[in-house]
Amino acid sequence: MDFQLTEEQLAVQAAARDFAQNDLLPGVIERDTYEKFPAEQIKKMGELGFMGMMVDPKYNGGGMDTVSYVLAMEEISKIDSSASVAMSVNNSLVCWGLEKYGTEEQKEKYLKRLATGEIIGAFCLSEPEAGSDATSQRTTAEDKGDYYLVNGTKNWITNGNSASVYLVIAQTDKEKGHKGINALIVERETEGFVVGKKEEKLGIRGSDTHSLMFQDMKVPKENRIGEDGFGFNFAMSTLNGGRIGIAAQALGIASGAYELALKYSKERKAFGKEINQHQAIAFKLADMATQIETARLLCLKAAWLKDQKQDFSQASAMAKLYASQVAMDTTVEAVQVHGGYGFVKEYHVERLMRDAKITQIYEGTSEIQKIVISRNILK
Ligand code: CAA
Ligand code: FAD
Repeated sequence: MDFQLTEEQLAVQAAARDFAQNDLLPGVIERDTYEKFPAEQIKKMGELGFMGMMVDPKYNGGGMDTVSYVLAMEEISKIDSSASVAMSVNNSLVCWGLEKYGTEEQKEKYLKRLATGEIIGAFCLSEPEAGSDATSQRTTAEDKGDYYLVNGTKNWITNGNSASVYLVIAQTDKEKGHKGINALIVERETEGFVVGKKEEKLGIRGSDTHSLMFQDMKVPKENRIGEDGFGFNFAMSTLNGGRIGIAAQALGIASGAYELALKYSKERKAFGKEINQHQAIAFKLADMATQIETARLLCLKAAWLKDQKQDFSQASAMAKLYASQVAMDTTVEAVQVHGGYGFVKEYHVERLMRDAKITQIYEGTSEIQKIVISRNILK
């Protein structure tokens, strides 16, 4: 067992840290306040290779391992989770799904541009009436010979108004249950594709979360990913990797809040000494540090298993379940360590606290992670 990061992994971590400090930190409070999508910053993330990190270089990707991806996600999420969720969806849902299951033509046409960040992608599974219970979706993709006729509504789609390519999961044959579902690549310009309202959110307020409507939208057969009826398995398989990204996001939110709390505890004095000299504060910092280290180990283990081509579905669910709880606990305590200053925007921890909550909801709620874990344990 080797806990040492390689030189390449350390370089990726340092590059992500520098980018987050220099390009994401300035303006992050404003983007959160005014719900501004970090478009320029994401463009730069593409130039730096953060939008297609694990994609094979022959498709313009970085050819990096999942461990490097976790390290970069952590650093970027310390500062701006609206940027990191766009990165996570593009890398681990859209690019990974296309690279693993797409045809050569699909990779040439879409993956090559997604991997550089020239365009970004979105992953469309959830619906108004079907989130956790993903097989009961109502969007239909009727088989019309050489195309699918798609009708329905998707909800909560990250990168909803910024993406150019959307992976849409839809029901072709209801009788067949989850074996009747297909995954389709949909271009934004397709006739009948409508971007719906933008959600006003508690956290990740810079991320553009939209509903999408499909009205008699024709999607060519060659845009189906995998065999007929593979769509639900595609979504589940892809989400296993996506959950590593969100676990790493939660880890970054927690470690960002911890670093701010630690720094503040050395600056603030009360009753004649630094507040960290009061054991109540020192113990909070000790708990945070321990829980963050545990979350980091779970994230890296899941990433390592994926890199070793071993089954990582349980490990990624555990990492997401645990890291998202740590993000919640740590950010609440980081606000407490800051006292009244923690409650105002300038000190950043209140934003991190609001951003933490989504990590327990998207890409499978904490309850769903427990279903995934318990089914693995019990099978
Ligand atoms: N990995 C691989 N395959 C899986 C899987 C996993 N983690 N979980 C289920 N499957 C497969 C099963 O093996 C089964 O396939 P076969 O029949 O071919 O063997 C098939 O999926 C159906 O499985 P179940 O009978 O267990 O299905 P279910 O209806 O009981 O649901 C569930 C299982 C785990 C609850 C699933 O519905 C689920 O994960 N729900 C949560 C949905 C979700 O995570 N949505 C996220 C949307 S994307 C997003 O949120 C992005 C973002 O915010 C940024
Ligand atoms: P529900 O499924 O209705 O769940 C409500 C509550 O019931 C939850 O606490 C849940 O855990 C619990 N529950 C449900 N079923 C069970 C069960 N069997 N056992 C125990 N408890 C259960 N989706 C996408 O497809 N693409 C995206 O890009 C995307 N981005 C998102 C961005 C944001 C900001 C948000 C808020 C959501 C996003 N989602 C996206 C949707 C997200 O994945 C769903 O919200 C999530 O899966 C939960 O579904 P739901 O909201 O319908 O809640």
